[in-house]
Amino acid sequence: MDDVTEKREYTDDYQDKTLYIPGPTEVREDVIEEMCQPMFGHRMDRMTDLYTTIVEDTKEFLGTDNDLMILTGSGTEIWESSTLNLVDENILVPTCGSFSERHANVAERLGKNVDRIEYEWGQAIKPEDIREALESSDKHYDVVATVMNESSTGIRNPIEEIGDVVAEYPDTYFVVDAVSALGGDYVDIDEHNIDVIFASSQKAFAMPPGLAICTVSDDAFERELSKDSASWYGGFQRALDYYDRKGQTHSTPAIPIMLAYRKQMKYMLEEGHEGRDQRHREMAEYTRDWAYERFDMFPEEGYESQTVACIENTQGIDVAATIEEVSEKYDMAFSNGYGSALGEKTFRIGHMGEHDVESIKALTDAIEDVAGL
Ligand SMILES: Cc1ncc(COP(=O)(O)O)c(C=O)c1O
Repeated sequence: MDDVTEKREYTDDYQDKTLYIPGPTEVREDVIEEMCQPMFGHRMDRMTDLYTTIVEDTKEFLGTDNDLMILTGSGTEIWESSTLNLVDENILVPTCGSFSERHANVAERLGKNVDRIEYEWGQAIKPEDIREALESSDKHYDVVATVMNESSTGIRNPIEEIGDVVAEYPDTYFVVDAVSALGGDYVDIDEHNIDVIFASSQKAFAMPPGLAICTVSDDAFERELSKDSASWYGGFQRALDYYDRKGQTHSTPAIPIMLAYRKQMKYMLEEGHEGRDQRHREMAEYTRDWAYERFDMFPEEGYESQTVACIENTQGIDVAATIEEVSEKYDMAFSNGYGSALGEKTFRIGHMGEHDVESIKALTDAIEDVAGL
């Protein structure tokens, strides 16, 4: 392969930007400071205190009786491990944007037979299509894998209703990629038959990147046990057994990030799952109203994300130049549309994590100023 990248020396001289991108997002100062502690061993009692605290606090926050693992890595790891742990042959993946397509692609790379239900970007996945696919296919699907929040298009899929449909098929497991939603958008995991749901720490949890959070139902756990092969690193059984026996992780975790996680999860518990949902809803409504006034929303109406607004650039502003100038003048970072297709056609505002309506308004004011709206 040609070597096209030259070294660009990292300096200590970067201007901090307030992050309104769809992750990483803003992290509280005192949460960041938690990471600056002397290291300790991952087999020490202190680690058991830390890991059991963050696991149990997260279960309490999410209100789930399912098991939970916090794995060093990112959400991408769970695309792989949930496929390896649960799928023998067939997996059904409705695709409605870049991340759901990547989920399908990961399963293909692992040698699985992937059937897609393809939606146009900007459209949401419909439960009746899942029902139709499960009913009409002569194949048995081990897994239905659905993205909750398609970050590329700003769609919030009705995973609760989809979960209720999949519940009618007891040997089909329901896997939900909630990477950019969990922590900022309420979901009742146990009520809707969600066997596996996962997030990355740098999104609505408002933590530094580097951890994947994943809940696992008893059925999914049993399913992995009955299979001949499964993921090692992301194996449910290995992670959860280790937790049960020792209260620790099976291999050396990113301890500094877990320290930050502990602190932030206490804040999340204080606010509560429903409280965070409410704050995120207010931010989403504010952003949507602003978008309707100045531009238009890209997602199908009624399915707009609660954490990422994907705004259609109906004014034909120079998106890249606006992002650049807002960054220069206001030290705020927001995102262009996803990939070459949506790059200039849309732009995205991550209203997740620690933001509130006031801080989102500061950004929309800045965009108005720079774009001359
Ligand atoms: C919906 C969704 N799924 C998966 C991922 C991949 O997450 P990570 O980069 O943390 O592995 C992302 C990242 O933005 C995402 O938005």
